[in-house]
Amino acid sequence: MKFLIINGPNLNLLGQRETGIYGKEDYADLVRLCEESCAEAGIECEVFQSNHEGAIVDRIQQALGEADGILINPAAYTHTSIAILDALRGVGIPAVEVHISDIDKREPFRRHSYAGMACIKSFMGLGLQGYRQGILFLKEYLDAH
Ligand code: DQA
Repeated sequence: MKFLIINGPNLNLLGQRETGIYGKEDYADLVRLCEESCAEAGIECEVFQSNHEGAIVDRIQQALGEADGILINPAAYTHTSIAILDALRGVGIPAVEVHISDIDKREPFRRHSYAGMACIKSFMGLGLQGYRQGILFLKEYLDAH
């Protein structure tokens, strides 16, 4: 089983960016957590980050025939990108949405998620551990389907 884990804009700044919201762990810590969580569950994974919407769309398209599941934190593109929503629907690979913060409890403009409309489940407000929970959920879902 292989997962593609996608992180959107500014997540590369973890550890220095709004630490009261996103915590003090940095992007390397997040990549390590994803790789270790996947390895423990016997899953191969690739972790991808981009600040560019089109690069994220390209990466989702490339996952066709390559990844069994996608875990995605589209960051700010969550709230704006119909292109990412369409790409996820287009490839039809089971996807889970993750947010470090609870987007339902922040500014009203963060409450709507386009990407979430293509995802089987969303994990939010759990810090980096949300990635671990998302990975385990996606594995259980794929094992059962
Ligand atoms: C985020 C929440 C988004 O609203 C924000 O733009 C981000 C990070 C999160 O993980 O909590 O960049 O996706």
